[in-house]
This record gives sequence, C-alpha cells and structure tokens, in this order.
Amino acid sequence: MPTVKRIGILTGGGDAPGLNAVIRAVVKTAYNAGIECIGLEDSFDGLIEPGRSRVLTPRDVTGILRLGGTILGTTNRGNPFAYPINTSDGTKDYSDRVIEMFHDMKLDALVTIGGDGTLAIAQQFGSRGIPIVGVPKTIDNDIVGTTNCFGFDTAVDFATDAIDRLHTTAEAHRRVMVVEVMGRYAGWIALYAGVAGGADVILIPEIRYDLSIVTERLLEREKWGARFSIVVVAEGAIPKGGKRALVEEASEGRVERLGGVGAQVSSELGEMTGKETRSVVLGHLQRGGAPTSFDRVLATRFGGKAVELIRRGEFGTMVAFAPPDIIARRLEDVVGKTKTVPMDFDLLLTAKALGVTFGD
Ligand code: F6P
Repeated sequence: MPTVKRIGILTGGGDAPGLNAVIRAVVKTAYNAGIECIGLEDSFDGLIEPGRSRVLTPRDVTGILRLGGTILGTTNRGNPFAYPINTSDGTKDYSDRVIEMFHDMKLDALVTIGGDGTLAIAQQFGSRGIPIVGVPKTIDNDIVGTTNCFGFDTAVDFATDAIDRLHTTAEAHRRVMVVEVMGRYAGWIALYAGVAGGADVILIPEIRYDLSIVTERLLEREKWGARFSIVVVAEGAIPKGGKRALVEEASEGRVERLGGVGAQVSSELGEMTGKETRSVVLGHLQRGGAPTSFDRVLATRFGGKAVELIRRGEFGTMVAFAPPDIIARRLEDVVGKTKTVPMDFDLLLTAKALGVTFGD
C-alpha cells in the first residue's frame, strides 16, 4: 500500500447534480484517514494556472450534499492536451505543465470526476505516470462500465415532472406537446423520462425515426378520442435519411452542440397531422437543482470508493456501479466508448409492448 498524504480533486465537463456530494464524500473520507485534500478549480485549469487550488477540509464541504453545481467550478473546454487559445492552430498542449504542477504541489494522487471527455484525459495522464482514480459523472448516463452515473436520476426526475405538467395543458387544448430532452448520442433520459411520464412517442438516437409512422400513431389516438399526445425527443435523435440537429458545429477544442430537433419534429408533425403542436426544450434545467436521494447516495458511495482505491494503490481505475456493488473498472476499458440503449433492453421492449412508438 502506498503512503498517500495529499490528493487533488477536480470536476470536469458539464456539471451534474451530485458533484458536490462526491467532493464532500472524498474530502471527509480522506480527512478521516489522515489524507489532505486539495480542491483544483475549473477542471484541469487548477493544474495549469497557479493559485487555482485550495485545501478542502470537512468544514469546507459541510452542507453541500444537497447542492447542485460544483463548488470547484468546471469547464468542458479545458483539455490540457488541446487547450483552446487564440492562435492559428487554435490549441496548445499544456500536459507537461499539469504533470509538473501535480508534483510541485506534492500530490500523491488525483480524483477526477467527469464524463467521457474528462475520463479520457484522466486516462492519458494515468498512462504518463499520474496516479489517477476516475469518478463517472453525467446526466446522459452514457459511460460504459457503470449501470448508473450520478446526475441521471435527477435529470430523469425533472424531465418526468415536466412531462406531467405538459400533460394537463396539452389535454386542455387538445394539443400535441413535443419535449426535447438532453442525452447527447444516447437515449437514456428520453427513454426513462418518456416511460415514467407516460409519453406516447419516444424518439432516441439509437433508432432512426420516421414521422409518418409517428403521424399514424397520433391520428389513431385521435380516433379513439385522446385529447392530447406527448412526444419525447432526445436531442440526438436522427430522422431516417436525415441529419442530427445542431446548434453549433464542433471546432478546435470544442465539441458540437446538439439541439433543435424538438422544434423540427413539432413543426413537421403539425403539418402532417393537421393538429396544433407546441415544443418545449428542457435544456440545462435538467442539470440544475438538488440531486435526488438516489444520486446523493450513489455520489457518496463513489466518493468513498475513490478514496479506498487510492489508499489501496489501485490507480488507472474508475469507480462504477454494478448493482448492488460499487466496483473498480480499468479506465482504459471504459474511455472512448459510448453506452447507448441496446435494442434488446427490457425497458425499450416493454415500452414498445405497451404501444409506445419509437418512429420505426
Ligand atoms: O453531457 C451532458 C450534457 O448536458 C448533454 O446532455 C448536452 O448535450 C451537453 O452536456 C450540453 O453541454 P453545454 O453545457 O456545453 O451546453
């Protein structure tokens, strides 16, 4: 077992409810084991720019369990291997500086809490000798090797509540309501919130949709007297023979931004069905607010396990939820992949059996 006296902790990528719960668990567990915790600000920026770190004690994390966001700040534009700057090639490699600063700060290990992008960066630093443990975070739930990421349950809960609210107004006006949810290239949020909210149509990136099939379903519902229909669309859903809707193309150091499919589906369905349609984008509301109790518990378990792995010297790993246990996975086995909804997933099959249309 290595002697670990001081560890760094950072949060990277988009925020997700539960980040603070992980930070709290890591800081308290480490402190009780005689390990000092250094909080690094705005992801890897805390290891690039001097003065962007601070000691965290249990006192600093008291009361943050239920808070959304992250007390450390985060960014999804801070990859040290391709840091966006204003030069002709647009990025600079700051990875040597990160490694130098890690040693200058006398850190023995690094807890990196993030999504696929941040974990891939963590793995790169791991292969360059930095003792790293990753913690998977994303509302999208698309990280390979873990059944759940914290943040997902909170996002689904929020989206379900939004769908419930839309039901009543849709019914009052005999409308079709189209709800666009997040999830990037995976349909987990759309599927779970769609089923939990009783949606009639769920469109996910894993299944190319055909609006004429959706139209048939909506008109059939009208025939038997339904006063409303709810369509849940994942932001990454793609029409058959068409393209994914983007608000911004990828550029140097930045990933593409998805969005707009809800409005497209709504206007096309309006024309095709002759019914009044409205669309709502839930957007970043899904990432805000207090984590659910499920996410608080999962985040706390992840934080505790991360410190356990560090104390045991099990580096290059990611904590993961393999119900009912929290286990360790090798980072190299999980990064660079996306966990999408499998076509034989029971919830997908159950939804289909219930009559939910996926546009295929
Ligand atoms: O990965 C989480 C996520 O919220 C996605 O669902 C969404 O596509 C993306 O982040 C939005 O990122 P940004 O914070 O850059 O708008």
